Order: sequence, then C-alpha cells, then structure tokens
Amino acid sequence: MAHSPSYPLSKCLPSQTEEEMENQKRTYQYFRHLVSTLPRVGGFKRPFYCYNGWYARLPSLVSAMVAREHFQAQPTDVLLATCPKSGTTWLKALLFATVNRSSHTNSHPPLATLSPHQCVPSLEFSVYVNDRIPDLDALSSPRLFGTHIPFQSLPASVIDAGCRIVYLYRDPKDCFISLWHFANKFRAKDNIELWTLDEFLEHFSNGISPFGPYWDHVLGYWNGHLERPQKVLFLKYEELMQHPEVHLKRLAEFVGCPFTEDEEKEGVVEGIIRLCSFENLSNLEVNKIGRSELAIGTVENSIFFRRGEVGDWVNHLTPEMARRLEEITESKFRGSGLSF
Ligand code: A3P
Repeated sequence: MAHSPSYPLSKCLPSQTEEEMENQKRTYQYFRHLVSTLPRVGGFKRPFYCYNGWYARLPSLVSAMVAREHFQAQPTDVLLATCPKSGTTWLKALLFATVNRSSHTNSHPPLATLSPHQCVPSLEFSVYVNDRIPDLDALSSPRLFGTHIPFQSLPASVIDAGCRIVYLYRDPKDCFISLWHFANKFRAKDNIELWTLDEFLEHFSNGISPFGPYWDHVLGYWNGHLERPQKVLFLKYEELMQHPEVHLKRLAEFVGCPFTEDEEKEGVVEGIIRLCSFENLSNLEVNKIGRSELAIGTVENSIFFRRGEVGDWVNHLTPEMARRLEEITESKFRGSGLSF
C-alpha cells in the first residue's frame, strides 16, 4: 500500500485556471517570505520560528498562516484541537466514527482503510498544503478538522462562526516522551544524530516544541473554554482512557450527535470505542504500512502509533526530569483550575 487518496479532501480540489493556481502559489510565497523574517531558534536542521508567542517549523507555520487567512468556518464545523502527541489520532478516529456512524456499515467503516488523519484532515498539515487553497464547501457538514494551531492564532472565523472545538490534552510528561520518540524517528530517517532526553527536555521546558510552549497551548484553549464552555469542550487523554464510554457520549452530545437509547442498547458506543482502540487501529494495514502526504512531507501512518498508554514516562524520565516538568506544570497552571 502506498499513498492512500486523501479522503475527504479529494472532493475539494476542483480543476483551476492557471491564474487561480498562480494566485494561490503567490499566497504561499508571501507567507514563506514572512515566516523567514521571524525570529528563529537556531541549532536545528529545521529551525523553529516564533510567531505570536508560539513555535513551529516553516511548512506548518506557513500553512497555519494560510489557514488563518483563508479558512471560512461554518457554524456546524467541529475543530479537534491538540498540542502534538496528546492523542490527536485517537480523537480524530472517535469523532469521525461517531459523527458518520449512520452512513457507515460496521463491516466496512472508512477507518478500516484510511488513517484517522486522512478521515479528519488537519488545517496546517493536510488542508492548506502544496500551494493549494481547497474549496471546503464541497464537504458535507458537520465538517471535522484537526488543528494544532494555538487558540490565539486560530482563523478568526472559527470564533466568529461559533463552531465547536474539542480540546484534548495529556500529561505533559507523556506528551514529552511521545514527542521525543516522534522527533527521533524523523532524525533517524534523515540520518541525524538522535536527540538525547536531556537536550530535548531543555528545549521542551523552555517552551521550544512544535506549536508550544506546551503549557501556553493548553492554557490558551482552557481560557477559551472558560469564556465559552458551550463551544470549547475540554478532555483529558487519561480520563478518556479510563472511562471511554462516558467521554464518548459526552463528545457525541457536544457535537450534536448524541447516541440514542436504542444505539446504546445495541452497543454502538462500545463498537466505536473498539474500532478506535489503539490495538485495533494500530494493527490495520493502512496504519501499519500506509503513508500520508502532510505539510512536513510523506510520513508513514505507523508513526502516529507507539504505545498508546498512560504513564509511559516512568520508563524514560529520571525522578529529577519528571520533577522539572511537574514543577513547570504546577507553576504555569496554578490558579487556572487545571491540574494533573
Ligand atoms: P505514545 O507515543 O505515548 O504511544 P498524536 O495522535 O497527537 O500524534 O499522539 C500520538 C500519541 O497517541 C502516541 O502516544 C500514540 O501511540 C497515541 N495513540 C495513537 N492512537 C491511539 C489510540 N487509538 N488510543 C490511544 N492512544 C493512541
């Protein structure tokens, strides 16, 4: 299996005139130039640029800027927002299966042959890429999109249209370990010396991580949730793992597709949880050997599946390292109402 078609975006790229394509290319060139003028953190093969208080690499930052300029949210849209490595893949699968459950047969759900990232495209990794600005009106509602863009830099239409946002966050220690493995997979592919935990921790603790600082990312959405609780739902990876049924029902209600009593009796909720479980998804052929085209290049879908557990950090972090992350979390979240 090579590159699967990017469903559902394949519907959104109608043939365009040379002039339209040229204009879109110019938009990307403009933002590429803009990003190249931003402060950057050196010492990396692919530097991080700092924009509006957060860090990202050039392709995803350019895409985020194009999204900010061109994404026209609809009130029925649902945005799945996360800091990288917080369980985006899982959340995408759960919401996609929930929202589309009436049109999917149990024997051939799209998730059996498409990665969750193909089913729910991310604004900055799959939608606004390749110098193209897709026509998203072709998607049926409710449209689901993933994003890592921090709350303060979301396209204005997301808030103006009142679309719903589901924010999933995760213990920063597990997030950090997951990110370290993820980053090292890219380094191994590029034949670059792997990050040591110490080096990586130093950057992460100083806020330098994709779409980070991690803590500001969570707090940005948390404040958004406090301001509009009916529009921003907050969910913890650890709680979702502990009580998947409770939280899936909460999610379904929030996005306007509550499970009926009959569905609950028929085991629809459990079925979706099973379909989207780490064990099931990570063993599907599409997620084992398939690939996806993202703004950061072609990636193997398997890169999004590692262990899928709570507390794997204990196998990697020394007590001092763990304490450092806990102290930062404690001081950043103090008084916010958030904790781990
Ligand atoms: P680990 O590296 O700790 O295993 P993201 O999807 O935001 O990139 O996050 C990836 C993390 O979510 C990885 O964590 C991955 O294994 C885990 N994950 C992927 N699919 C999952 C699922 N269906 N259930 C639980 N965790 C999952």
